[in-house]
Amino acid sequence: MSTTNDLMEAFAARRPKSAAMFERARKTLAGAVGHDLRYSLPMPIYIQRGSGGRKWDIDGNEYVDFLMGNGALLLGHADPEVVEAIGRAAALGTHFGNDHPLHIEWAELVQRLIPCAERVRFTNSGTEATQLALRIARAATGRNRILRFAGHFHGWHDDVVHGFQPPFEADGSLGVPPQVRQGLVTIPDGDLNLLDETLAKHNDIAAVILEPSGASWGRVPIDVNWLRGVREVTARRGVLLIFDEVVTGFRFSSGGAQKLYGVTPDLCCLAKVMAGGMPGGAVAGREPVMRVFDITGDPHHDRHQRVVHFGTFNASPTAAAAGIVVLRRVADGTAIAQADAAALRLRDGWDAVLERHGIAGYVYGPASTYHVYFETNLDRVRQAESRRDLHTTDPARLKGMPGRLIAQYQLRMRFGGVDNMSSTGGVTCAAHSPDDIDRATAVFEQTVIALRDEGLILGLASTKSPEA
Ligand SMILES: Cc1ncc(COP(=O)(O)O)c(C=O)c1O
Repeated sequence: MSTTNDLMEAFAARRPKSAAMFERARKTLAGAVGHDLRYSLPMPIYIQRGSGGRKWDIDGNEYVDFLMGNGALLLGHADPEVVEAIGRAAALGTHFGNDHPLHIEWAELVQRLIPCAERVRFTNSGTEATQLALRIARAATGRNRILRFAGHFHGWHDDVVHGFQPPFEADGSLGVPPQVRQGLVTIPDGDLNLLDETLAKHNDIAAVILEPSGASWGRVPIDVNWLRGVREVTARRGVLLIFDEVVTGFRFSSGGAQKLYGVTPDLCCLAKVMAGGMPGGAVAGREPVMRVFDITGDPHHDRHQRVVHFGTFNASPTAAAAGIVVLRRVADGTAIAQADAAALRLRDGWDAVLERHGIAGYVYGPASTYHVYFETNLDRVRQAESRRDLHTTDPARLKGMPGRLIAQYQLRMRFGGVDNMSSTGGVTCAAHSPDDIDRATAVFEQTVIALRDEGLILGLASTKSPEA
């Protein structure tokens, strides 16, 4: 498969039903897909079913899956206990609009597991959770501005849709009123003095929000000492600290990144794993902060004195049922340990591939995640004596690999039967077997050889710049 066109043709030839589906999608779905990351050419993949660590598209092609429901599935696809719990809840009524026993049980599990979770409020997604957390912080402090870090992703609502992809200062989306940006201060992570100075300069900052993994579930690693420092600086300056644990919660440890790293925020945002593959999210936090929801007077008329939060499907019975199963299995430690072991095998195996072929890149990532960085700057490659010298924490580099490289990487991996989460990274689940990982490693090897032959990635001894 020498050229991109050959690959596209071969990919499409194995997916006639998917091609027809894409035609229909173009005429019905705005933007042709339901989530920006699902778009790919010659066509997105259309999945019919999944089981454990694998999934199958409508043309019968099999994939080892590291997308895992955008990171939501710690137990893998169609886990029998989760499926059974959802079915049992659905048979009693999918949705009441009232609170119900599973809702309280779910909240109790979150409270037990997450260090900062003295109180919990459920939402329908991670985006809703970060949006609500910012409102809570503003209400609790009486201040309006939010400080965030360049590269960190917090969902797609107006406040946070910019600043996670380079160039970080650019607008993130059409349709966001310019004044929204005035409510945000964005600085690079990793610099405690800068944080301290910025908080000193702006006395209207309600909260600092960050991904405790580092930007984009650890694609840009951070130093845990920096995280500890952020806790100290925010506490000293009277500013609330929000951990966005939408990915890390119940994945990095049973109590999220905050338990793993021993740093407790005032508020945290949860979603994905927490809802067991169903739509769901939550804000959890310290009780004095979460008191902003308390109904103290007439529930119909005291809205100006509290944080208002509605949501038809908040903590729906089926989401709660799935979430309870997952959180119980998270609590006993085995699911996370299995997913971590799979990711370790993957990172070691894939990094060994890069070493064997002398590719200018490396594989990294905490817990059950992996990221692959290919260095495409010829000068940096020339200066490196070994792959070790390529390691970086610069978000512009780690998040700035050429788009064509990423598209070709994803296409080749999918063609070989491996689906990633975003960019060059993914997550593992408890159901990934050593065989799944080894099969993916073989596909990764074919992929990097092809990418090098195409001139999209460099060998350590390269003398020619990669194709843009
Ligand atoms: C760290 C982080 N925060 C927030 C979100 C938004 O969550 P959702 O997609 O459920 O709206 C995501 C989604 O990937 C995320 O990774």
